This record gives sequence, structure tokens and C-alpha cells, in this order.
Amino acid sequence: MAETNRQILLKARPRGLPAAGDFELREGPVPEPGEGEFVIRNRYLSLDPAIRGWMDDTPSYMPPIGLGEVMRGTTVGEVVASRHPDYQPGDQVVGLHGWEDYSLGHGAGFDAKIPAELGLPPTWFLSVLGAPGMTAYFGFLDVGRPQAGETVLVSAAAGAVGSLVGQIAKIKGCTTIGIAGGPEKCRMLKDEFGYDHAIDYKAGGDLASAIRAAAPEGVDIVFENVGGEMLDAALMNLKLRARVLICGLIAGYNAESPTPGPRNLWQLLVKRARMEGLLVADYVDRFPEGITQMGEWLQQGRIRHREHVEPGLVAAPQTFLKLFDGSNMGKLIVDLAADRG
Ligand SMILES: NC(=O)c1ccc[n+]([C@@H]2O[C@H](COP(=O)([O-])OP(=O)(O)OC[C@H]3O[C@@H](n4cnc5c(N)ncnc54)[C@H](OP(=O)(O)O)[C@@H]3O)[C@@H](O)[C@H]2O)c1
Repeated sequence: MAETNRQILLKARPRGLPAAGDFELREGPVPEPGEGEFVIRNRYLSLDPAIRGWMDDTPSYMPPIGLGEVMRGTTVGEVVASRHPDYQPGDQVVGLHGWEDYSLGHGAGFDAKIPAELGLPPTWFLSVLGAPGMTAYFGFLDVGRPQAGETVLVSAAAGAVGSLVGQIAKIKGCTTIGIAGGPEKCRMLKDEFGYDHAIDYKAGGDLASAIRAAAPEGVDIVFENVGGEMLDAALMNLKLRARVLICGLIAGYNAESPTPGPRNLWQLLVKRARMEGLLVADYVDRFPEGITQMGEWLQQGRIRHREHVEPGLVAAPQTFLKLFDGSNMGKLIVDLAADRG
């Protein structure tokens, strides 16, 4: 066991994009497990857009990270000490913990054992078999209820969630349109993730017209990961009784002042469409079902996924920004072993 536990704390609430001064690196003792607890030596940390929301003191589906508290994030790691009857040293676990080398687990909430017998890379439980995979699976199928032959529009389509939504939609017999930033991501959309149409929103041009060119009859399902101008462009292309699934609104996560709301909501009325939010946390009890199905599709080669692993805990605040400038090429993950003594 390393002698110290490096942790990254929230020092100040960011205004706009998080800056180096909003974080603080602290070294302290490795925790000891109390009764019913176990100590995890974290190996990988997942960096997710939602963390940006937890840094703000605004009402949400979970409390904000307190000032001076460890940054929250999902990790995978190995149990190194335990006073919990169901967790033994050597077990691989995934759970919502912190930006730190060692975490205390309680075997509750999001804590789960990784089935070692499957022999899968542990990072998959942060990506395709973790929260992003389950967001795509349950969000698209349970909330979107797609029918074969429907047309599906996905924003941030080359990302962790969006790349999987597009492939699940193809498996379900839908036509897919993905929006992403830049030619390389648009190549990935078509060549790796099987999208029928790719739209590069950074290429300039009118987004609503580009969507109309790909789907002249309109779209049945919008899987919205971005919001802002993209949501407005999607709203101008709805079919009758379309479903607009609000998964994320990343375009506004770093806004310094309130952003103007969608301008085209009247299209919901015109097209008798519905708009609905979705939250992956609602599906934790059903994760085994989603993991089994996604696992089968992976095995059959029907799902492909990308991970973007960056080295080092100390650089994590800087790495986090890749989610917001689009330089992550897949699920963004930190390798904590890379800069551990
Ligand atoms: N509701 C839930 O339970 C749930 C769960 C997980 C994730 N989410 C949401 O799902 C979305 C995607 O998350 P993810 O983990 O899969 O991340 P990701 O797509 O792998 O990474 C974020 C991507 O968003 C795009 N982006 C960032 N800022 C943007 C902007 N201002 N305008 C347009 N595009 C922008 C970038 O792609 P480009 O290079 O293409 O611009 C970036 O690569 C996020 O909104 C997240 O909050 C929701």
C-alpha cells in the first residue's frame, strides 16, 4: 500500500470553465476501514460532464460537492482491506467515490463488484458497461421507445453516450443521424459507429438545414446531449409525435450567466411532440439487465466503443476540460497508476 492518499479537493466554485485554482491537491493518510467498510485502491477514474454540475451550488438530483470536499467521480479499483462481509481483499469494484488514490466503500448505492470470471478490462465498467453504456441503453430504449424504421438524431454523437445510442438505434432498425465536432469525429460516426449520416457542426452552415437534408421527413427521436443551438435546430425538424429525450445539455454547463432557453419550443405543439428528461441513476436496479444485453452485443461485434485514457491524478483537473473542448476521443478516463509513487 502506498503510504499516502492523494486527493483532489474542490477549493472554489468555478465561474465558467473550471480553472486550476478551483482545485487543490492534498496528501493524507490511507483510510482505515470501519465496521461494514472496505478500502479501495483506485486504479481508474471516470471523468464525466455531470461532475461539472456537481461543482455548482444549484438544486440537482444529488447534493453539490462541498467546498473543501474531495471531487466526486466513479472509480474502479481493488479492495485492499475490508471489514465488510461481502467484500474481500482482491475483489475488483466499481463505485461513485472520489478523485483520490484510496476510497472507503460501503457496498451500498452505486458500489458493485466487477465479475472477475468475465475477464473484461475494468475500464469497460466506466464506459460501455458502466454509467455511459447504461445511459444509452435505458435512456434510448426505455424513455425513447424506438420503433424499427424510425429516424433518430443524436448530438455529441461521437462521445461515450452518443456513440452507443447510435449503434443501439441501428440494432433496433432505425436510421441514424449523428452530430459531432470536426472531420475526424464525423469519420468515426460513420466508419466506427455505423451512423447513416454525420453532421459536422463545426464546419459552419445552418444546422437545421443540414438535419433537414439528412432527414427530409423529419426525425422521430432526438437524443439530446448538447442543448443550445443544437436543440433549437433539432426542434425545427420534428416529425408528428416525435420524442425529444433530454439526456444532457453540455453546451450550457460552463455558462457564466443564464443562457437563453430554447427558442423553438412551439414546435412541440405544432408536432404534438413530447420532451422528457432521463437520469441513469433511476436504472441502477436494472443495470444487470443492461450489462448482460450490452455484453452480448459486444461479443457479437454489434457494438464498438472507444476509451480515451489520460495519465495521472494530478493532471485530472486539466484532463477534465477535454470534455468541454471536445478533444476527448471516446470515454474520458484517468489512469491513476500513471503518476502514483
Ligand atoms: N442523464 C444522464 O443520466 C446522463 C448520464 C451520462 C451522461 N449524460 C450527458 O450526456 C452527454 C454526453 O456525455 P458523455 O459522458 O458521453 O461525454 P462525451 O460525449 O464523451 O464528451 C462530451 C462531448 O460533448 C461535446 N461538447 C462539449 N461542449 C460542447 C458544446 N459547447 N457544444 C457542442 N458540443 C459540445 C464534445 O463533442 P464534440 O467534439 O462533438 O463537440 C465532447 O467531446 C452530456 O451532456 C452528459 O451530461 C447524462
